[in-house]
Amino acid sequence: MKFDIITIFPEIFDFYFKHSIIKKAQEKGVIKIQVHNLRDFTGDRHKTVDDKPFGGGRGMVLKLEPIFKAVSSLKNPKSQILNPKKLKKKMKVILFTPRGKKFNQKMATRLAKLDQIILISGRYEGVDERVAKHLCDEKISMGDYVLMGGDLPALTLIETVARLIPGVIGKSELLKERITKQKGFIEYPQYTRPEVFESKPKVKWRVPKILLSGNHKKIEEWRKKQGKIIE
Ligand code: ADE
Repeated sequence: MKFDIITIFPEIFDFYFKHSIIKKAQEKGVIKIQVHNLRDFTGDRHKTVDDKPFGGGRGMVLKLEPIFKAVSSLKNPKSQILNPKKLKKKMKVILFTPRGKKFNQKMATRLAKLDQIILISGRYEGVDERVAKHLCDEKISMGDYVLMGGDLPALTLIETVARLIPGVIGKSELLKERITKQKGFIEYPQYTRPEVFESKPKVKWRVPKILLSGNHKKIEEWRKKQGKIIE
């Protein structure tokens, strides 16, 4: 799986992708992440990525042309023209916008089956609407609130999708028992030592007794009741 991110703040991603599980997954070759600076796809001396909105209004709007150039070059790299087999890739172009479809686990599961995802991260007051209309396959929102751009949504999507790709989470075997028959994921409360923690004199925070009982059937029932199934 290859993730391509188009952004005007590539530095935001540097630290994140060079650490943790995501870094290891890249080293193993199970995922590949490339961050592309939108300014590299501009044609003018000032590397202009934004302009004033038609019709007036405050703020600046990300221009269509650089995004068009970036998406085109990522969709059809030279290597692909030389190797036509690669043309059959399953690929999607995603634009992050609060007007998009709200992201959830089901979408992540669907996206995890693709070969390539191109993520367009907006900034400023908006992105020329022709990107949403003609250039992207899907518009995704991370929730009903307005962020300053699509960079955090891109990180969220990559983390959610990547952990579903075989080989990304080292101990995926351990997570199997948490996958329900309907392919949902049960997220339940977890505890570890100490059994009793004294936060101040006479105030004790305890681990639920059932988890110390050794009765696996009861523990399973308790986890089902306390947990949330994320589909
Ligand atoms: N850009 C700004 N806010 C956003 C949101 N909630 N989801 C996706 N992209 C955004």
